[in-house]
Amino acid sequence: MTLIKEQDYGTPASRSEKMVSLRIDGRTVTAREGTSIMRAAAEAGISIPKLCATDSQNAYGSCRLCLVQVEGRRGTPASCTTPVADGMDVLTQTPRLAALRKGVMELYISDHPLDCLTCASNGDCELQDMAGKVGLREVRYGFDGANHLKAEKDESNPYFTFDPAKCIVCSRCVRACQETQGTFALTLDGRGFASKIAAGMDDGFLASDCVSCGACVQACPTATLMEKAVIDHGQPEHSVLTTCAYCGVGCSFKADMQGETVVRMVPWKDGGANEGHSCVKGRFAWGYATHSDRVTTPMIRDTIHEPWRKVSWDEAIGFAATRLKAIQAQYGKNSIGGITSSRCTNEEVFVVQKMIRAAFGNNNVDTCARVCHSPTGYGLKQTFGTSAGTQDFRSVDQSDVLLVIGANPTDAHPVFGSRMKKRIRAGAKVIVIDPRRTDLVESPHIRASHHLQLRPGTNVAIVNALAHVIVTEGLVNRAFVEERCDPTEFARWEGFIADPRHSPEAVEAITGVPAAEVRGAARLYATGGNAAIYYGLGVTEHSQGSTMVMGMANLAMATGNIGREGVGVNPLRGQNNVQGSCDMGSFPHEFSGYRHVSDDTVRAMFEVVWGTALDPEPGLRIPNMFDASIGGSFRGLYVHGEDIAQSDPNTNHVAAALEAMECVIVQDLFLNETANYAHVFLPGTSFLEKDGTFTNAERRINRVRPAMRSQTGKDEWEVTCDLAAAMGYPMRYDSAAEIMDEIARLTPTFKGVSFERLDRDGSLQWPVNDAAPNGTPLMHVDGFVRGKGRFMLTEYVATEERASRFFPLLLTTGRILSQYNVGTQTRRTGNVAWHPEDILEIHPHDAEERGIRDGDLVSLASRKGATGLRAMISDRMPQGVVYTTFHHPVTGANVVTTENSDWATNCPEYKVTAVQVTLSNQTPQVSAAE
Ligand code: SF4
Ligand code: SF4
Ligand code: SF4
Ligand code: FES
Repeated sequence: MTLIKEQDYGTPASRSEKMVSLRIDGRTVTAREGTSIMRAAAEAGISIPKLCATDSQNAYGSCRLCLVQVEGRRGTPASCTTPVADGMDVLTQTPRLAALRKGVMELYISDHPLDCLTCASNGDCELQDMAGKVGLREVRYGFDGANHLKAEKDESNPYFTFDPAKCIVCSRCVRACQETQGTFALTLDGRGFASKIAAGMDDGFLASDCVSCGACVQACPTATLMEKAVIDHGQPEHSVLTTCAYCGVGCSFKADMQGETVVRMVPWKDGGANEGHSCVKGRFAWGYATHSDRVTTPMIRDTIHEPWRKVSWDEAIGFAATRLKAIQAQYGKNSIGGITSSRCTNEEVFVVQKMIRAAFGNNNVDTCARVCHSPTGYGLKQTFGTSAGTQDFRSVDQSDVLLVIGANPTDAHPVFGSRMKKRIRAGAKVIVIDPRRTDLVESPHIRASHHLQLRPGTNVAIVNALAHVIVTEGLVNRAFVEERCDPTEFARWEGFIADPRHSPEAVEAITGVPAAEVRGAARLYATGGNAAIYYGLGVTEHSQGSTMVMGMANLAMATGNIGREGVGVNPLRGQNNVQGSCDMGSFPHEFSGYRHVSDDTVRAMFEVVWGTALDPEPGLRIPNMFDASIGGSFRGLYVHGEDIAQSDPNTNHVAAALEAMECVIVQDLFLNETANYAHVFLPGTSFLEKDGTFTNAERRINRVRPAMRSQTGKDEWEVTCDLAAAMGYPMRYDSAAEIMDEIARLTPTFKGVSFERLDRDGSLQWPVNDAAPNGTPLMHVDGFVRGKGRFMLTEYVATEERASRFFPLLLTTGRILSQYNVGTQTRRTGNVAWHPEDILEIHPHDAEERGIRDGDLVSLASRKGATGLRAMISDRMPQGVVYTTFHHPVTGANVVTTENSDWATNCPEYKVTAVQVTLSNQTPQVSAAE
């Protein structure tokens, strides 16, 4: 069982290779050079009292509780700030030290409420522990002097309280906010007795810049900063180690439990992706799992206009199978299909695609990755030979230049965003390519060297211009290219990209970015040391998404920025298991491990294990399913954990396609928008009930473990197996571990993966096979997966979506920190305190032209549709560009987005829509025929 409290070594580990030897309390101890005495002692099992030190932060040396005596040195140095040295002789327990420590504790306790028995921290309070440890028996100063006991509590944050009466001013919270989170929301105000912790301008946590990551709460040694859930429930009695189910960072957490009730989520220090940090979603926004809106009983109805009927599992499965079989009998084998979920585990996804291929008998399976990172799969496979990011997150610590394109990590991948900010504060340079001024362009202690604020839709023109500068200014890493890349393809590309039409000056009018900025950015990327590319949906969700991915791969190869720490090309995946759902064979043309369904050898392997003949023809992609539905040839759909009616583009078209079907099966936690068109509702399980694995953006396979029993009485993969069996294809597993065993047997990159290994080793990054038995943190180290790296020609082709007289603005969309995707989960948590509705960000000039003031309700209209929302005037956007999120169904922002899509993968062009914005009490001057 996982320990509730992890050991705190007091100061961070040293990375030095050099070992030193010393004596502590008469014992010979070895430690890495640079280690503090406190940590060296802790590693040897000797515990020194401490209050202001914690191993997630650099030593601060303020509380003076950790004093030690060092032979030959005067005084009593603090063990947290004193590094070990060869031959040192340290004493941690002497009468003199005991007296000093008691004195320190007396001072603290004389200004602290003595309500230990009723305090929420009782049993988990370092102050209480230290009082016990130093043997405090009296407080000679008494309790009548000046104190802070009447200081007012701040309960503004939905998840934690701040009770300054209990504060010992150790500054761990301030340092957590600075060093770990990088938000700088807290300060230590005043001096001496008047010192106190202030959030923002001392106007409370909710009104401050605090992003509610909880790092300060975790760091606080007392009950000053305290989770409200712990105040309500009391201290946990056991912990379950699991993985966050929100974004592609894949943070590991200890779910601290009382029975089957979650008391708090604590980010796990040994988590490979997060190393003890979290964001507001993973740490606090888990209440949706037990929200009263959850549906836990199967339901059916004959038509979508009737009310739902609650039925047994058997009846629901029987109803669904009968309908699907009838559809196939009438319209043919290919008239049904399914969509897998990137929120579900690898094991759940694997059985869904298996059911479709083996029980439905076709390859009509697609995944929500179609609408986010499918161009990543295509582009990286063409250039490098595999569809995945090249680095682990830790690699960024070795980067000198970060090139961040179409990504907003501080909002969408917050824990990795904090890690990036830490590296930038330590000296790395950052270049941001984004129409919007994100926090990586400018925020406390962060300033980008270059912000290429391009017009939406012109990514490829920019990446070509960067490459043009690198080629024409002699910045190509010839040695790397000669050794690692295909010479013919390189020569072809070099000639193509050197053409003056790609120069920054030539494309300035297209992109809107000054040529000098582009030249400066290209030089920095090529010559600034280890340069790493990180990108998001601002790259992929374009009509040239795949071209752009290949353009970035070209840049990395041309400059030799691939195949070692600190470099690479890294997609920041959206949902928790986007990487995994792609790996598991969710695309209509690929089995797990990205092998084409037409490959006879591969297919034969699956046919043997699955015991049935499989279709060699690729099936339908999501948009083709919708078109075929409207055309009448596609009649039944199984939608696993996705709300396509809200998340997919051109909502009206999606709705028409769903409405035309004869059997829509939705499996989800809640009756989402898609369920409005469903005939069968199969309740799903939350991550707190799941047993399985998620694979994050760095290919890290993490275990998900059940903290509570399934609220529906069944595992989700079990339901899929039941449906497959009812369709006539028996499919049975005894456990999720057994499904992983089958995945490993059929997927070369997962060959060495099993639950047993993951439980033993924590996590593994694929490929895990004979060549890499312990996994692969860095890809393409000695050679590309495809052999020689392949430069691809990346001609810029303007999107068909153009601004016009009627639709003069360009809309681009994104996420904000506190909400997630279509908001199904986060809208059912306290996170609504920060983003209760979608907001349209509009430049002051564009707003003024339209008579729009901050907070006005406006109409947002495109050639496809219109919606209404509130405007926020913001100069984060350039003039002519507006921005919104799609977290709230009431806005339904995808009503306005178009069906334009990536030429190679059909990934929708969410990031460019020509729109008009008007005050909503005015009639929008739009014409659908324009
Ligand atoms: S709030 Fe907690 S962490 Fe911050 S200074 Fe006070 S006691 Fe220390
Ligand atoms: S919750 Fe996070 S952002 Fe807010 S004050 Fe604490 S450390 Fe800073
Ligand atoms: S960064 Fe992502 S994975 Fe980590 S806690 Fe936040 S939402 Fe969860
Ligand atoms: S723990 Fe070392 S001075 Fe506070």
